[in-house]
Amino acid sequence: MKKRIGVLLSGRGSNFEALAESVEAGRIPDAEIALVVSNREGAEGIEKARRQGIDARVIPSKGLEREAYDKLVVAALQEKKVDLVCLAGYMRLLSPHFVAAFPQRILNIHPSLLPAFPGLESQRQALEHGAKFSGCTVHFVDENLDAGPIVLQACVAIEDADTPETLAERILREEHRIYSEAVRIVLEGRYRIEGRRVLLHAPKGSERK
Ligand code: GRF
Repeated sequence: MKKRIGVLLSGRGSNFEALAESVEAGRIPDAEIALVVSNREGAEGIEKARRQGIDARVIPSKGLEREAYDKLVVAALQEKKVDLVCLAGYMRLLSPHFVAAFPQRILNIHPSLLPAFPGLESQRQALEHGAKFSGCTVHFVDENLDAGPIVLQACVAIEDADTPETLAERILREEHRIYSEAVRIVLEGRYRIEGRRVLLHAPKGSERK
């Protein structure tokens, strides 16, 4: 049976597109994107998903308490029998109810080398801090902002001429690459968690003889 991925987003959806392409190309094997949800009307990612024939729903969060809203989203994900939830530019903190519904089954992508520069505008934060390197992080999600055990990271050098936009563009390329890789690792169960550390197992067939 194919593993079923649910993607939550609030905007452009380029990480969703990268995941969808990886599923299509077999870089994330035996998987399908079963549902895309946006909390915002007009999120480009929803249109992109619909054009690919993927069930994509807007569930507006405006005016709802965090937990009441999360219950709606969790119900939709459960109805679609989602195995793994991928946050991809989803601009909301998850409630304990949401996290408990998918234990160690929620991933997020963040455009910095966590724990540096959590929150909004991470690329600007990195530049203003004078960091020489930044990058991106795929991590398991808990109730805290940009916390949770780290699955993969990629490093990007910061150049003197960088603006938040040019840096974001180079980081985004790495995001698209490592998010798919991390989803594959998690769906294949090729890891174990010890404390905060996610220890990766070698892919099948690659062990030394
Ligand atoms: C990405 O930079 C991601 O790391 C952050 O939000 C942005 C979403 O971009 N969490 P997109 O919607 O996937 O294009």
